[in-house]
Amino acid sequence: MIAIADDLARALRSARFVAVLSGAGVSAESGVSTFRDALTGLWANFDPLELATPSAFRRNPKLVWDWYAERRAQLARVLPNPGHHAIARIEASVPRFLLATQNVDGLHARAGSRRLVELHGNIARVRCSEDPRHAVEAWDDVGDEPPRCAHCGAYLRPDVVWFEESLPAQALCAAEAAARACDLLIVAGTSGEVYPAAALPQYAKAAGAIVLEVNPAATPLSARADYALRFPSGEALPALVRAAWGEDAMAGQPSCAESSREGGNGAR
Ligand code: APR
Repeated sequence: MIAIADDLARALRSARFVAVLSGAGVSAESGVSTFRDALTGLWANFDPLELATPSAFRRNPKLVWDWYAERRAQLARVLPNPGHHAIARIEASVPRFLLATQNVDGLHARAGSRRLVELHGNIARVRCSEDPRHAVEAWDDVGDEPPRCAHCGAYLRPDVVWFEESLPAQALCAAEAAARACDLLIVAGTSGEVYPAAALPQYAKAAGAIVLEVNPAATPLSARADYALRFPSGEALPALVRAAWGEDAMAGQPSCAESSREGGNGAR
């Protein structure tokens, strides 16, 4: 049983605008491993920098394509957990809301989150490697090289943000604006080490918002937090929702055990 302070529950219940920043920890209870943890089996000898940079793709497009194809297939076998569902429940209960996620696994949307920006892209999407505007819905994954863009013939690539690349400007702008305008920022499952996302709590705090950190471990962001729930988000976020809106507020949602039936990989 996680105890939620009355004033924190009240702050959530009365908030006009809630923003959430989420990271890999929110998907941990779904069995999604982090980028580094996913480097097992055939991939054990690779460095992330050999698989998730534009230069790695230029050097060996097929290798990078296959790495993402495998992780995409593994992600199709995992489910959102109660932490994802609690975030969707908060969105449905407050007047204004924005979720900025660093996760590329698509689990927030599958749990029902709608007002969300994906700061690091989404592993399920594919786009032209030369022109980011050309997204591709369906592709043939055969042959010894990645499929090619129908417009220009360049290779297709996963629509994720690689190391050395900038974040999508619109998504980042929306996240920053929400951090500056919200009354409550919930920072869940992120180590707070990767910028620019890690700057959002600072903007929220400077603008007078309450900041809540949900993470079993302390992070560099902890110093800015007004409240900390040092528990897994799949337990802490449903407890927070129940404290704000009553015991029935999470009724009918799957348990953690149901959401981690099978393991998988994911991250960026
Ligand atoms: N609930 C909440 N938090 C958790 C849980 C859990 N069940 N399990 C782990 N955590 C916390 C860890 O304590 C850690 O602080 O989640 C955080 C995960 O940190 P990172 O792996 O660094 O993930 P993230 O902050 O999302 O990283 C940002 O860096 O590696 C890249 O592309 C990757 O988008 C990612 C970015």
